[in-house]
Amino acid sequence: MRTPKPHTAARMDGIAPFHVMDILARAQALEAAGRDIIHLEIGEPDFATPAPIVEAGVAALRAGHTHYTGALGLPALREAIAGFYATRWQATVDPARVVVTPGASGALLLTLGLLAGPGDEVLMADPGYPCNRHFTRFCDARAVSIPVDAGSGFQLTLDLFDAHATPATRAVLIASPSNPTGTAIPPVELARIHDWCAAKGIALIVDEIYLALTYDGGEHSAARWDDVFVINSFSKYFQMTGWRLGWLAAPAWAMPDLERLAQNLFLAAPTSTQHAALAAFLPATLTELEIRKAELRDRRDYLLPALRERDFVIPAQPHGAFYLYADCSAHTKDSFPFAQALLEQVGVAVTPGLDFGQHQPQRYLRIAYTQPLPRLVEAISRVDRFLDQ
Ligand SMILES: Cc1ncc(COP(=O)(O)O)c(C=O)c1O
Repeated sequence: MRTPKPHTAARMDGIAPFHVMDILARAQALEAAGRDIIHLEIGEPDFATPAPIVEAGVAALRAGHTHYTGALGLPALREAIAGFYATRWQATVDPARVVVTPGASGALLLTLGLLAGPGDEVLMADPGYPCNRHFTRFCDARAVSIPVDAGSGFQLTLDLFDAHATPATRAVLIASPSNPTGTAIPPVELARIHDWCAAKGIALIVDEIYLALTYDGGEHSAARWDDVFVINSFSKYFQMTGWRLGWLAAPAWAMPDLERLAQNLFLAAPTSTQHAALAAFLPATLTELEIRKAELRDRRDYLLPALRERDFVIPAQPHGAFYLYADCSAHTKDSFPFAQALLEQVGVAVTPGLDFGQHQPQRYLRIAYTQPLPRLVEAISRVDRFLDQ
């Protein structure tokens, strides 16, 4: 007798897979068959975690730091994060407002769990980081994806928020610099949005996971206001993706609720990782990270004109992160089979626009410059070969 399949929650229908995983799986299969693949599809830095952080993590394990910390995180780490806001971004953040989380993912889940539920709406950009829609869905709230394009640098504007807000709008979410476009929101626009949110009692969430990877100056943190939910992470600038550590700087009023939620959802962020992260703010680590950041900028400065010369249109200047969001409509009507063919024929893996939303995804590819410069040069020569066929 066949046993009936257990029921799964209705929310699962709204949670889409990453299409890039298909590309990645195929890339790995081709590699297993002996092909050389250039990976420009993956959204993480290619550098290893800086040595002082690794050493601190190993030392923490050896010293027996293998138990839970408090739900909000190690006090010393919360202070160090607050110190980083002061020195790097000239923002005053009380350590008591910092929550250390399992990645920015944990911070986004906590924030949306606090703010949004059934019947509530959260406004966000399309294209945008896809998990934001899914976190919102997970909270049984509605993600309102607002199409953005080059005219606003692929960022949301006050006018767009104003046009899409309803009485059900509970929060607006901005990522600057953005994944997948690398574009940043102008500080004046962010200030207008902040004031509008404050006047309407709508929560402002700003994901600054790529803020420290801003290449053209002007790292403006939204933590200059103490009523914003500011998300960040050790994943990207600090190159600790696999350690799973991020943070949230939240308004003081939200802290008791966030602590209760963190206790229940995760108990705490990983302990050895938190000890390791204390070494992230050492001068030697920051010096190394700035060298790596300069290398990422050099890669952007090579790849951006190289793609533009080949009729990939990148209309808005990508100021940060490590992504270029390239309009490939001069070459194809649909970026998904184009990405597949690029991989099959010349071994270059990129992410199709489909992963980032519904607004003209077939026009775009996300290209991550998470490979050393010589590999990017090789990728471009392979693209030439592909286009010449
Ligand atoms: C914009 C953005 N926010 C959040 C995350 C989640 O990062 P993590 O959970 O590794 O800190 C990512 C990861 O790619 C991202 O691009």
